[in-house]
Amino acid sequence: MSALKIKQGSTSHSAYNLRASYSETTERHTLAVIVANEPGVLARVIGLFSGRGYNIESLTVAEIDHEGHRSRITIVTSGTPQVIEQIKAQLGRIVAVHEVHDLTVEGSAVERELGLFKVVATGEQRIESLRLAEIFRANVVDSTLTSFVFEITGTSEKLDAFADLMRPLGLTELARTGIAALPRGVPGHRRRGRDMGAHRIIIDTDPGQDDAVAILLALASPDEIEVLGITAVAGNVPLALTQVNARKICEIAGRPDIRVFAGCDRPMARPLVTAEHVHGTTGLDGIDLPVPQMPLQAQHGVDFIIDTLRREPAGTVTLCPLGPLTNIATAFARAPDIIARLRGIVLMGGAYFEVGNITPAAEFNIYVDPEAARAVFAAGVPLTVLSLDVSHKALTSRAWVAELRALGTRTGEVVAAWTDFFERFDTAKYGSEGAPLHDPLVIAWLIRPDLFTGRHINVEIETEGSYTLGMTVADWWGVSGRKANAFWPGTLDRDGFFALLTERLARL
Ligand code: BDR
Ligand code: CA
Repeated sequence: MSALKIKQGSTSHSAYNLRASYSETTERHTLAVIVANEPGVLARVIGLFSGRGYNIESLTVAEIDHEGHRSRITIVTSGTPQVIEQIKAQLGRIVAVHEVHDLTVEGSAVERELGLFKVVATGEQRIESLRLAEIFRANVVDSTLTSFVFEITGTSEKLDAFADLMRPLGLTELARTGIAALPRGVPGHRRRGRDMGAHRIIIDTDPGQDDAVAILLALASPDEIEVLGITAVAGNVPLALTQVNARKICEIAGRPDIRVFAGCDRPMARPLVTAEHVHGTTGLDGIDLPVPQMPLQAQHGVDFIIDTLRREPAGTVTLCPLGPLTNIATAFARAPDIIARLRGIVLMGGAYFEVGNITPAAEFNIYVDPEAARAVFAAGVPLTVLSLDVSHKALTSRAWVAELRALGTRTGEVVAAWTDFFERFDTAKYGSEGAPLHDPLVIAWLIRPDLFTGRHINVEIETEGSYTLGMTVADWWGVSGRKANAFWPGTLDRDGFFALLTERLARL
């Protein structure tokens, strides 16, 4: 195993960001890349290997996937086929196993740009180091039997805390590169660090008050999220309004530098269905906002998605659809090569336990363009689905709206006014106290996946049923035998979610 090197940032194995070079192969050894999806799996793997006589030197935890830092890890191990079978049998929820023989993939130097912080930890306590890396969502960029290299981007405080905790674990080198903490809210400022722990996202949206809160949450969270652009789609209201609304929202956040693109103005195969009955005729009813001054980009939103994915390093960009999936599926149809370049898709849509909101069987985003949804769910991209099952747990409360007003900021006032408008519909329909903040869950998932628990399941989209068009047939109980294609959160720490929202919105 001495020559095992792991680098992040390539596509050697679909979207799992593994770049590995392995120079030792023998007839008896197989190298397996195992992607597992279960909280605590790392500890179990370590226990398994150290406690049961396996050769721990044959195991390297190569990558902690930050999209679900507590729940998804990639393990690279070598061993006989029987050993690998035993691991598979005991690991629990394994998402994928790729067996690799004679793997050689060229690695490239890790990019160190502004804002990156590098720590090298060595020695016996590497497992503890990995746990720390997991907690801090640091990126394991190089791993050998005796040393691990982490990169982490964040505020000075975060980096100091990380370094302090690493020292007793054999920290041998500490290097800061560039400026770790940059001032927030500087017009035109963009974080330039290629922080693999941070999410680099395109928000695809049909605002929508709840879309608006999602966008504000993302823009208020530069340590965790870099917004590469926003693509508007027809959904809650027609495209002519959603693209204007997206720009209004950026201006509220003080970010006129964000590029907003108009995408598709109708579903792939059907007439558009809108939801003015929920969001008002503008889509953002609740408070009058000025006509945006920032420009709409000339490029079509679908072209922007395609170009961005082709230009950025493979495995680094996540799509965050908050509306019908028309733009995404159109991009996939026109440029199938971009699919394998995605880090993942985290979307709001669908329902299982909550069934439907626009029809008895279907959730709005999926119902509006079921053909697009079907294509996206079938694409084989790591997919996380924030459905009504969790968004109906994300109900606003009077106390929270009062907290927003008490911030005394323009953002607080605007979000409170949107919430007041938005909740009328749901209060009348469900008799609940507040409004479900569906779309912000997508961004909350990226920032704090620990607020959710869920299952990796198969989800198929109904495109023909006379009563069930747009239904997400979610195999929560695993009865179909069909392969899992989505991570589906089922629980939400509601108070944690609203605390996060308040803290972040207060920054704007
Ligand atoms: C979804 O539909 C839209 O009305 C909301 O913005 C959200 O994206 C909820 O069903
Ligand atoms: Ca939406």
